[in-house]
Amino acid sequence: MSGMPLGRIGFIGAGRLGQALAVAFARAGYAVSAVNSRTAASAQALAQRVDPHARQRPLVAGHPQAVVDACDTVFITVNDDHIESMARSVAWREGQAVVHCSGATEIEALQAARHAGADTGGFHPLHTFGDVDTAVAALPGCAVAVESADEGLRAGLMNLAHHIDARPFELPRGSRALYHASAHYAGSLVVTLMNEAVQHWGRLGIPSDQALDALLPLLRSTVRTIESRGLGPGMAGVAARGDAVTLARHLQAIGAAGLVERQLYADLTRRSVALAIDSGRISPEQAQALYATLNMAWRPEDH
Ligand SMILES: NC(=O)c1ccc[n+]([C@@H]2O[C@H](COP(=O)([O-])OP(=O)(O)OC[C@H]3O[C@@H](n4cnc5c(N)ncnc54)[C@H](OP(=O)(O)O)[C@@H]3O)[C@@H](O)[C@H]2O)c1
Repeated sequence: MSGMPLGRIGFIGAGRLGQALAVAFARAGYAVSAVNSRTAASAQALAQRVDPHARQRPLVAGHPQAVVDACDTVFITVNDDHIESMARSVAWREGQAVVHCSGATEIEALQAARHAGADTGGFHPLHTFGDVDTAVAALPGCAVAVESADEGLRAGLMNLAHHIDARPFELPRGSRALYHASAHYAGSLVVTLMNEAVQHWGRLGIPSDQALDALLPLLRSTVRTIESRGLGPGMAGVAARGDAVTLARHLQAIGAAGLVERQLYADLTRRSVALAIDSGRISPEQAQALYATLNMAWRPEDH
């Protein structure tokens, strides 16, 4: 697949992601030609970042329509809630490409453009865009979910991802909410789990910065082990060892913080036991012992 040439690229929405992608696309040799944002300052910031030396600065447009008129491929990089209304608010033309970068929003949000004869698609980097420079520097190697019913645009977006040194993969139609929610397990929910650990260490009188300092190397080594050995073979802990006695101690200690804390620990450990069985780490008998321990009723008087 050679992919459709994306031609002059425009951005509507010059926020964290819009600015970072515009810089990355321009550095990869793509023509970032026009930008509009709710405030002129954001649009100017994008244009300045794309071309700091003002050699061929993108047009800073006062209205989204001017970006649509000036470009072949338009990235709508406004907040998720405004993607659909933005797509409806301008006049598209046949042969144009319109792309959004939201993980959880279906491509149907761009149907106004599709009805006008434009190709539509999604380009979602599995990446955190906070500070623009940091985000651009960390883009190489990041996965990008590409979706389009139009083969040429799909291939063009795959090429674009390759050209910014990212790793594209294709998403099936209608799957974005599940895809996006699941990705949270590798992102923001890891933060939540780290916070649980820090809170419990707080009960031991260990300050949170000291707790985080001590727990981060463990998190790093967990990630490295997953990379080198995979999930099941790389798993450590009570479930992977079939250690029901230690699990009972854990449940009692964690349960002292409350029923919700115990329930969370037990529910996650149930999933660990399932993974340990599936990957041949423990026998069915060991799994039964772990499940029996997990199913023991929680009684407040135990604590
Ligand atoms: N941030 C991330 O980590 C991340 C990761 C993957 C995907 N995404 C996706 O990227 C897209 C943009 O997110 P973001 O994080 O970049 O958000 P953001 O920093 O809040 O930027 C959104 C930009 O859209 C502009 N905007 C809002 N309404 C507008 C309108 N009606 N007309 C023109 N411009 C408008 C805002 O303009 P002003 O600044 O001018 O007010 C703002 O700069 C979303 O679809 C999001 O899901 C974000």
